[in-house]
Amino acid sequence: MKVMVVGGGGREHAIIKKLKENREISELYALPGNGGMANDATCIDIGAKEIKKQVEFAVNNKIDYAVVAPDDPLVLGAVDALNEAGIPCFGPNKAAAIIEGSKVFSKNLMKKYGIPTAEYEVFDNKDEALKYLETAPIPTVIKADGLALGKGVIIAETREDAKAAVISMMEDKVFGESGSNIVIEEFLTGPEVSVLSFTDGKTVVPMVSSMDHKRALDGDKGLNTGGMGTVAPNPYYTEDIAKICMETIFLPTIEAMNKENRSFKGCLYFGLMLTEKGPKVIEYNCRFGDPETQVVLPLLESDLLTIMQACTNGTLADTEVKFKDGAAACVVMASNGYPQKYESGFELKIDDSIKDKVYVAGAKLDGGVLRTAGGRVLGVTDTGADLREALAKAYENVKMVSFSNAFYRNDIGAKALKAKGE
Ligand code: AMP
Ligand code: GLY
Repeated sequence: MKVMVVGGGGREHAIIKKLKENREISELYALPGNGGMANDATCIDIGAKEIKKQVEFAVNNKIDYAVVAPDDPLVLGAVDALNEAGIPCFGPNKAAAIIEGSKVFSKNLMKKYGIPTAEYEVFDNKDEALKYLETAPIPTVIKADGLALGKGVIIAETREDAKAAVISMMEDKVFGESGSNIVIEEFLTGPEVSVLSFTDGKTVVPMVSSMDHKRALDGDKGLNTGGMGTVAPNPYYTEDIAKICMETIFLPTIEAMNKENRSFKGCLYFGLMLTEKGPKVIEYNCRFGDPETQVVLPLLESDLLTIMQACTNGTLADTEVKFKDGAAACVVMASNGYPQKYESGFELKIDDSIKDKVYVAGAKLDGGVLRTAGGRVLGVTDTGADLREALAKAYENVKMVSFSNAFYRNDIGAKALKAKGE
Protein backbone atom coordinates (compact mmCIF):
# COMPACT_ATOMS: atom_id res chain seq x y z
CA MET A 1 0.00 0.00 0.00
CA LYS A 2 1.24 3.48 -0.87
CA VAL A 3 0.60 6.26 1.63
CA MET A 4 1.51 9.95 1.43
CA VAL A 5 1.60 12.47 4.26
CA VAL A 6 1.27 16.18 3.48
CA GLY A 7 3.39 18.39 5.76
CA GLY A 8 6.97 18.64 6.87
CA GLY A 9 7.35 19.19 10.61
CA GLY A 10 7.78 17.25 13.83
CA ARG A 11 4.09 16.35 13.89
CA GLU A 12 4.33 14.79 10.44
CA HIS A 13 7.48 12.90 11.45
CA ALA A 14 5.59 11.44 14.43
CA ILE A 15 2.67 10.44 12.18
CA ILE A 16 5.06 8.84 9.69
CA LYS A 17 6.94 6.89 12.36
CA LYS A 18 3.67 5.55 13.73
CA LEU A 19 2.33 4.66 10.27
CA LYS A 20 5.56 2.76 9.57
CA GLU A 21 4.55 0.18 12.17
CA ASN A 22 1.88 -1.03 9.72
CA ARG A 23 3.39 -3.78 7.59
CA GLU A 24 0.88 -3.29 4.76
CA ILE A 25 2.45 0.05 3.90
CA SER A 26 5.10 -0.59 1.27
CA GLU A 27 5.83 3.03 0.36
CA LEU A 28 5.54 6.13 2.47
CA TYR A 29 5.98 9.64 1.05
CA ALA A 30 6.24 13.01 2.79
CA LEU A 31 5.28 16.20 0.89
CA PRO A 32 7.57 18.02 1.44
CA GLY A 33 8.89 16.30 4.60
CA ASN A 34 12.34 17.43 5.67
CA GLY A 35 15.90 16.10 5.57
CA GLY A 36 15.59 14.78 9.12
CA MET A 37 12.89 12.30 8.16
CA ALA A 38 14.54 11.00 4.99
CA ASN A 39 15.20 7.61 6.63
CA ASP A 40 11.52 7.15 7.44
CA ALA A 41 9.81 8.40 4.27
CA THR A 42 10.66 9.43 0.73
CA CYS A 43 10.58 13.23 0.77
CA ILE A 44 9.02 14.86 -2.30
CA ASP A 45 9.67 18.52 -3.00
CA ILE A 46 6.04 19.63 -3.07
CA GLY A 47 4.96 22.23 -0.52
CA ALA A 48 2.10 21.76 1.93
CA LYS A 49 0.04 24.41 0.13
CA GLU A 50 0.73 23.18 -3.43
CA ILE A 51 -2.52 21.29 -3.68
CA LYS A 52 -2.56 20.87 -7.46
CA LYS A 53 0.88 19.28 -7.39
CA GLN A 54 -0.13 17.05 -4.48
CA VAL A 55 -3.06 15.73 -6.50
CA GLU A 56 -0.84 15.18 -9.55
CA PHE A 57 1.71 13.33 -7.46
CA ALA A 58 -0.95 11.17 -5.81
CA VAL A 59 -2.55 10.22 -9.13
CA ASN A 60 0.72 9.62 -10.99
CA ASN A 61 2.10 7.47 -8.18
CA LYS A 62 -1.13 5.56 -7.53
CA ILE A 63 -1.30 6.62 -3.89
CA ASP A 64 -3.81 4.51 -1.95
CA TYR A 65 -4.28 6.82 1.03
CA ALA A 66 -3.30 10.38 1.92
CA VAL A 67 -2.96 12.06 5.30
CA VAL A 68 -3.23 15.85 5.22
CA ALA A 69 -1.71 17.07 8.47
CA PRO A 70 -1.27 20.90 8.49
CA ASP A 71 -4.02 23.51 8.84
CA ASP A 72 -3.29 25.49 5.66
CA PRO A 73 -3.95 22.77 3.06
CA LEU A 74 -6.98 21.52 5.02
CA VAL A 75 -8.52 25.00 5.14
CA LEU A 76 -7.68 25.50 1.44
CA GLY A 77 -9.48 22.28 0.47
CA ALA A 78 -6.69 19.74 -0.12
CA VAL A 79 -8.91 16.86 1.00
CA ASP A 80 -11.69 17.89 -1.42
CA ALA A 81 -9.19 18.07 -4.31
CA LEU A 82 -7.62 14.69 -3.48
CA ASN A 83 -11.03 13.06 -3.02
CA GLU A 84 -12.18 14.40 -6.38
CA ALA A 85 -9.18 12.66 -7.94
CA GLY A 86 -10.24 9.42 -6.24
CA ILE A 87 -7.69 9.47 -3.39
CA PRO A 88 -9.14 8.64 0.05
CA CYS A 89 -7.82 10.97 2.76
CA PHE A 90 -7.51 11.44 6.47
CA GLY A 91 -8.57 14.97 7.34
CA PRO A 92 -11.65 17.19 7.17
CA ASN A 93 -12.90 18.68 3.92
CA LYS A 94 -12.86 22.44 3.39
CA ALA A 95 -16.41 22.90 4.71
CA ALA A 96 -15.45 21.28 8.03
CA ALA A 97 -11.92 22.70 8.33
CA ILE A 98 -13.52 26.13 8.77
CA ILE A 99 -13.85 25.18 12.45
CA GLU A 100 -10.17 26.20 12.68
CA GLY A 101 -10.03 28.44 9.61
CA SER A 102 -12.47 31.00 10.99
CA LYS A 103 -12.64 31.97 14.65
CA VAL A 104 -15.85 33.88 13.93
CA PHE A 105 -17.37 30.66 12.59
CA SER A 106 -16.26 28.57 15.57
CA LYS A 107 -17.38 31.12 18.17
CA ASN A 108 -20.80 31.48 16.50
CA LEU A 109 -21.10 27.67 16.29
CA MET A 110 -20.45 27.33 20.01
CA LYS A 111 -22.94 30.09 20.85
CA LYS A 112 -25.64 28.58 18.61
CA TYR A 113 -25.28 25.09 20.09
CA GLY A 114 -24.59 26.04 23.72
CA ILE A 115 -21.02 24.73 23.82
CA PRO A 116 -19.12 26.37 26.71
CA THR A 117 -16.59 28.99 25.61
CA ALA A 118 -15.49 32.53 26.53
CA GLU A 119 -18.04 35.34 26.05
CA TYR A 120 -17.23 37.31 22.91
CA GLU A 121 -18.11 39.98 20.36
CA VAL A 122 -17.30 39.96 16.63
CA PHE A 123 -16.20 43.09 14.75
CA ASP A 124 -15.65 43.87 11.07
CA ASN A 125 -15.21 47.56 11.75
CA LYS A 126 -12.19 49.03 13.54
CA ASP A 127 -14.00 52.04 15.05
CA GLU A 128 -16.71 49.88 16.57
CA ALA A 129 -14.09 47.55 18.03
CA LEU A 130 -12.21 50.51 19.54
CA LYS A 131 -15.45 51.90 20.97
CA TYR A 132 -16.29 48.54 22.53
CA LEU A 133 -12.86 48.47 24.16
CA GLU A 134 -13.59 51.75 26.03
CA THR A 135 -15.69 49.75 28.49
CA ALA A 136 -14.76 46.08 27.90
CA PRO A 137 -13.44 44.13 30.90
CA ILE A 138 -9.62 44.05 31.03
CA PRO A 139 -7.56 41.88 30.48
CA THR A 140 -9.17 41.00 27.20
CA VAL A 141 -8.30 38.70 24.32
CA ILE A 142 -8.17 39.83 20.68
CA LYS A 143 -8.22 37.16 17.96
CA ALA A 144 -7.81 37.50 14.21
CA ASP A 145 -10.56 35.56 12.43
CA GLY A 146 -8.38 33.58 10.03
CA LEU A 147 -5.20 31.50 10.20
CA ALA A 148 -2.23 33.55 11.35
CA LEU A 149 0.61 31.06 11.82
CA GLY A 150 -0.48 30.58 15.42
CA LYS A 151 0.17 34.24 16.20
CA GLY A 152 -3.31 35.69 15.77
CA VAL A 153 -4.17 35.78 19.48
CA ILE A 154 -3.20 38.78 21.62
CA ILE A 155 -3.87 38.90 25.35
CA ALA A 156 -4.09 42.58 26.29
CA GLU A 157 -3.43 43.49 29.92
CA THR A 158 -4.37 47.16 29.42
CA ARG A 159 -6.94 49.08 27.39
CA GLU A 160 -4.10 50.72 25.43
CA ASP A 161 -2.59 47.35 24.49
CA ALA A 162 -6.02 46.10 23.44
CA LYS A 163 -6.57 49.10 21.17
CA ALA A 164 -3.09 48.73 19.71
CA ALA A 165 -3.85 45.09 18.94
CA VAL A 166 -7.07 46.04 17.11
CA ILE A 167 -5.24 48.69 15.08
CA SER A 168 -2.42 46.29 14.19
CA MET A 169 -4.90 43.66 12.98
CA MET A 170 -7.58 45.80 11.33
CA GLU A 171 -5.66 48.84 10.09
CA ASP A 172 -2.02 47.74 9.70
CA LYS A 173 -3.15 44.25 8.59
CA VAL A 174 -0.24 42.49 10.29
CA PHE A 175 -2.03 39.18 9.65
CA GLY A 176 -3.29 40.21 6.20
CA GLU A 177 -6.94 39.44 5.47
CA SER A 178 -7.02 37.12 8.51
CA GLY A 179 -7.49 40.27 10.60
CA SER A 180 -10.33 41.84 8.58
CA ASN A 181 -12.74 40.36 11.10
CA ILE A 182 -11.80 39.97 14.73
CA VAL A 183 -13.15 38.39 17.87
CA ILE A 184 -12.78 40.17 21.19
CA GLU A 185 -13.36 37.76 24.03
CA GLU A 186 -13.45 37.31 27.76
CA PHE A 187 -10.12 36.47 29.41
CA LEU A 188 -10.40 33.07 31.08
CA THR A 189 -8.12 31.51 33.66
CA GLY A 190 -7.37 27.92 34.60
CA PRO A 191 -5.18 25.03 33.52
CA GLU A 192 -5.06 24.36 29.78
CA VAL A 193 -5.52 20.90 28.31
CA SER A 194 -5.15 19.70 24.73
CA VAL A 195 -7.43 16.85 23.73
CA LEU A 196 -6.95 15.47 20.23
CA SER A 197 -9.73 13.20 19.04
CA PHE A 198 -10.44 10.84 16.19
CA THR A 199 -13.83 11.25 14.58
CA ASP A 200 -15.69 9.85 11.59
CA GLY A 201 -18.46 12.43 11.94
CA LYS A 202 -20.57 10.09 14.09
CA THR A 203 -18.32 8.69 16.79
CA VAL A 204 -15.70 10.74 18.62
CA VAL A 205 -12.81 8.98 20.36
CA PRO A 206 -10.59 11.25 22.46
CA MET A 207 -6.90 10.41 22.51
CA VAL A 208 -4.79 10.61 25.66
CA SER A 209 -4.81 14.22 26.93
CA SER A 210 -1.71 16.39 26.79
CA MET A 211 -0.16 19.67 27.97
CA ASP A 212 1.72 22.05 25.70
CA HIS A 213 4.39 24.54 26.87
CA LYS A 214 3.93 27.56 24.62
CA ARG A 215 6.36 30.11 26.05
CA ALA A 216 9.98 30.15 24.94
CA LEU A 217 11.64 30.21 28.37
CA ASP A 218 11.59 28.33 31.66
CA GLY A 219 8.86 29.32 34.11
CA ASP A 220 6.48 30.15 31.22
CA LYS A 221 8.46 33.32 30.50
CA GLY A 222 9.39 34.80 27.14
CA LEU A 223 7.50 34.95 23.87
CA ASN A 224 4.81 32.61 22.64
CA THR A 225 6.14 29.87 20.37
CA GLY A 226 4.70 27.02 18.33
CA GLY A 227 5.31 24.85 21.44
CA MET A 228 8.53 24.07 23.34
CA GLY A 229 7.50 20.71 24.74
CA THR A 230 4.61 18.51 25.76
CA VAL A 231 3.62 15.86 28.25
CA ALA A 232 0.84 13.27 28.19
CA PRO A 233 -1.40 12.54 29.95
CA ASN A 234 -2.30 15.95 31.38
CA PRO A 235 -2.79 15.46 35.15
CA TYR A 236 -5.46 18.19 35.34
CA TYR A 237 -7.66 16.17 32.99
CA THR A 238 -9.31 13.77 35.43
CA GLU A 239 -11.85 11.10 34.49
CA ASP A 240 -14.65 13.29 35.86
CA ILE A 241 -13.56 16.21 33.69
CA ALA A 242 -13.23 13.92 30.68
CA LYS A 243 -16.83 12.84 31.16
CA ILE A 244 -18.05 16.43 31.36
CA CYS A 245 -16.08 17.31 28.23
CA MET A 246 -17.55 14.39 26.30
CA GLU A 247 -21.10 15.41 27.23
CA THR A 248 -20.86 19.19 27.00
CA ILE A 249 -18.17 19.72 24.34
CA PHE A 250 -17.04 16.77 22.21
CA LEU A 251 -20.36 15.17 21.23
CA PRO A 252 -22.20 18.51 20.92
CA THR A 253 -19.46 19.78 18.58
CA ILE A 254 -19.71 16.74 16.29
CA GLU A 255 -23.51 17.05 16.26
CA ALA A 256 -23.34 20.80 15.65
CA MET A 257 -21.07 20.30 12.64
CA ASN A 258 -23.45 17.68 11.24
CA LYS A 259 -26.43 20.01 11.68
CA GLU A 260 -24.51 22.70 9.78
CA ASN A 261 -23.86 20.19 6.95
CA ARG A 262 -20.17 20.33 7.73
CA SER A 263 -19.60 16.80 9.01
CA PHE A 264 -16.07 16.62 10.44
CA LYS A 265 -13.89 13.58 9.72
CA GLY A 266 -10.29 13.39 10.86
CA CYS A 267 -8.54 14.68 13.96
CA LEU A 268 -10.45 17.34 15.84
CA TYR A 269 -8.31 19.10 18.43
CA PHE A 270 -10.02 20.62 21.45
CA GLY A 271 -7.96 23.33 23.17
CA LEU A 272 -9.63 23.52 26.57
CA MET A 273 -9.37 25.68 29.65
CA LEU A 274 -10.53 24.19 32.93
CA THR A 275 -12.16 27.25 34.51
CA GLU A 276 -13.90 27.50 37.88
CA LYS A 277 -17.15 27.31 35.95
CA GLY A 278 -16.16 24.12 34.16
CA PRO A 279 -14.24 23.21 31.01
CA LYS A 280 -14.49 25.72 28.16
CA VAL A 281 -13.25 25.68 24.58
CA ILE A 282 -10.35 28.07 23.93
CA GLU A 283 -9.89 26.92 20.35
CA TYR A 284 -10.61 24.17 17.89
CA ASN A 285 -7.96 22.91 15.49
CA CYS A 286 -8.93 20.82 12.48
CA ARG A 287 -5.77 18.67 12.75
CA PHE A 288 -3.26 17.00 15.04
CA GLY A 289 -1.42 19.43 17.33
CA ASP A 290 2.28 20.09 17.15
CA PRO A 291 4.06 19.11 19.46
CA GLU A 292 1.12 17.28 21.10
CA THR A 293 1.25 14.54 18.44
CA GLN A 294 4.85 13.81 19.46
CA VAL A 295 3.64 12.59 22.89
CA VAL A 296 0.20 11.24 21.99
CA LEU A 297 1.12 8.87 19.14
CA PRO A 298 3.99 7.14 21.01
CA LEU A 299 1.34 6.11 23.56
CA LEU A 300 -1.05 4.77 20.92
CA GLU A 301 -1.08 0.99 21.03
CA SER A 302 -3.54 0.37 18.17
CA ASP A 303 -2.65 0.69 14.50
CA LEU A 304 -2.81 4.29 13.30
CA LEU A 305 -3.59 3.58 9.64
CA THR A 306 -6.53 1.34 10.61
CA ILE A 307 -7.98 4.10 12.81
CA MET A 308 -7.45 6.75 10.15
CA GLN A 309 -9.18 4.63 7.51
CA ALA A 310 -12.06 4.02 9.93
CA CYS A 311 -12.46 7.82 10.28
CA THR A 312 -12.62 8.08 6.49
CA ASN A 313 -15.03 5.14 6.09
CA GLY A 314 -17.35 5.94 8.98
CA THR A 315 -16.51 2.77 10.93
CA LEU A 316 -14.77 4.27 13.94
CA ALA A 317 -17.31 2.81 16.39
CA ASP A 318 -16.14 -0.70 15.42
CA THR A 319 -12.43 0.07 15.56
CA GLU A 320 -10.10 -0.41 18.51
CA VAL A 321 -8.37 2.76 19.71
CA LYS A 322 -6.20 1.78 22.65
CA PHE A 323 -3.57 3.80 24.50
CA LYS A 324 -0.77 2.44 26.66
CA ASP A 325 -0.67 3.15 30.38
CA GLY A 326 2.20 5.34 31.48
CA ALA A 327 3.31 8.72 30.22
CA ALA A 328 5.24 10.46 27.46
CA ALA A 329 7.31 13.65 27.37
CA CYS A 330 8.71 15.65 24.46
CA VAL A 331 11.42 18.31 24.78
CA VAL A 332 11.72 20.62 21.77
CA MET A 333 15.23 21.70 20.83
CA ALA A 334 15.24 25.05 19.02
CA SER A 335 17.75 27.43 17.47
CA ASN A 336 18.85 30.15 19.88
CA GLY A 337 16.80 33.28 19.22
CA TYR A 338 13.61 31.46 18.20
CA PRO A 339 10.77 32.58 17.90
CA GLN A 340 12.54 35.70 16.67
CA LYS A 341 15.79 35.85 14.69
CA TYR A 342 17.98 32.77 14.70
CA GLU A 343 20.77 31.21 12.66
CA SER A 344 20.50 27.98 10.68
CA GLY A 345 22.78 25.68 8.73
CA PHE A 346 24.62 24.06 11.65
CA GLU A 347 25.48 20.39 11.48
CA LEU A 348 22.89 18.33 13.36
CA LYS A 349 24.07 15.13 15.02
CA ILE A 350 21.60 12.62 16.43
CA ASP A 351 23.03 9.52 18.09
CA ASP A 352 21.82 6.31 16.44
CA SER A 353 20.66 4.97 19.82
CA ILE A 354 17.83 7.54 20.00
CA LYS A 355 16.88 7.92 16.33
CA ASP A 356 13.49 6.32 16.99
CA LYS A 357 12.69 8.91 19.61
CA VAL A 358 13.50 12.04 17.63
CA TYR A 359 10.94 13.91 15.54
CA VAL A 360 12.68 16.35 13.23
CA ALA A 361 10.94 19.63 12.38
CA GLY A 362 13.57 21.91 10.85
CA ALA A 363 16.50 20.24 9.10
CA LYS A 364 17.78 19.64 5.60
CA LEU A 365 20.26 17.32 3.98
CA ASP A 366 23.19 19.14 2.46
CA GLY A 367 25.45 16.79 0.51
CA GLY A 368 24.67 13.96 2.91
CA VAL A 369 25.16 16.15 6.00
CA LEU A 370 22.10 16.95 8.12
CA ARG A 371 21.90 20.67 8.97
CA THR A 372 19.52 22.78 11.02
CA ALA A 373 16.94 24.65 8.95
CA GLY A 374 14.37 26.17 11.24
CA GLY A 375 13.48 27.71 14.58
CA ARG A 376 12.20 24.53 16.12
CA VAL A 377 14.73 21.94 15.01
CA LEU A 378 13.40 18.75 16.58
CA GLY A 379 11.57 17.19 19.49
CA VAL A 380 13.00 14.42 21.63
CA THR A 381 10.36 12.13 23.09
CA ASP A 382 10.38 9.24 25.49
CA THR A 383 7.83 7.21 27.37
CA GLY A 384 7.89 5.72 30.87
CA ALA A 385 5.80 4.05 33.53
CA ASP A 386 5.02 7.51 34.86
CA LEU A 387 5.66 11.13 33.94
CA ARG A 388 8.78 11.44 36.08
CA GLU A 389 10.41 8.51 34.27
CA ALA A 390 9.35 9.74 30.82
CA LEU A 391 10.80 13.18 31.54
CA ALA A 392 14.07 11.81 32.89
CA LYS A 393 14.49 9.64 29.79
CA ALA A 394 13.57 12.46 27.38
CA TYR A 395 16.12 14.81 28.99
CA GLU A 396 18.77 12.03 28.84
CA ASN A 397 18.04 11.71 25.12
CA VAL A 398 18.49 15.46 24.65
CA LYS A 399 22.17 14.93 25.56
CA MET A 400 22.50 12.61 22.55
CA VAL A 401 21.62 15.41 20.12
CA SER A 402 24.05 18.17 19.24
CA PHE A 403 24.02 21.28 17.08
CA SER A 404 25.43 24.79 17.55
CA ASN A 405 23.23 27.38 19.26
CA ALA A 406 20.77 24.77 20.54
CA PHE A 407 18.38 25.83 23.25
CA TYR A 408 15.53 24.11 25.05
CA ARG A 409 13.45 24.51 28.15
CA ASN A 410 14.67 22.74 31.27
CA ASP A 411 11.28 22.63 32.97
CA ILE A 412 9.04 20.72 30.58
CA GLY A 413 6.59 18.76 32.74
CA ALA A 414 7.43 20.63 35.96
CA LYS A 415 3.92 22.10 36.19
CA ALA A 416 2.39 18.69 35.50
CA LEU A 417 4.47 17.05 38.24
CA LYS A 418 3.42 19.79 40.64
CA ALA A 419 -0.23 19.22 39.75
CA LYS A 420 0.26 15.56 40.65
CA GLY A 421 1.69 16.63 44.00
CA GLU A 422 5.17 15.35 43.10
P1 AMP B 1 -4.08 30.02 20.18
O1 AMP B 1 -3.09 30.76 19.32
O2 AMP B 1 -5.49 30.10 19.71
O3 AMP B 1 -3.57 28.65 20.51
O4 AMP B 1 -4.08 30.78 21.57
C1 AMP B 1 -2.89 30.99 22.21
C2 AMP B 1 -3.05 30.97 23.68
O5 AMP B 1 -3.77 32.13 24.09
C3 AMP B 1 -3.87 29.81 24.25
O6 AMP B 1 -3.15 28.65 24.37
C4 AMP B 1 -4.26 30.39 25.59
O7 AMP B 1 -3.18 30.26 26.50
C5 AMP B 1 -4.43 31.86 25.30
N1 AMP B 1 -5.85 32.22 25.18
C6 AMP B 1 -6.62 32.17 24.08
N2 AMP B 1 -7.88 32.56 24.37
C7 AMP B 1 -7.90 32.88 25.68
C8 AMP B 1 -8.92 33.36 26.59
N3 AMP B 1 -10.17 33.62 26.19
N4 AMP B 1 -8.56 33.57 27.86
C9 AMP B 1 -7.30 33.35 28.30
N5 AMP B 1 -6.32 32.90 27.51
C10 AMP B 1 -6.60 32.67 26.20
N1 GLY C 1 0.33 23.04 19.92
C1 GLY C 1 -0.75 23.82 19.47
C2 GLY C 1 -1.16 23.62 18.08
O1 GLY C 1 -0.80 22.68 17.43
O2 GLY C 1 -1.92 24.44 17.59
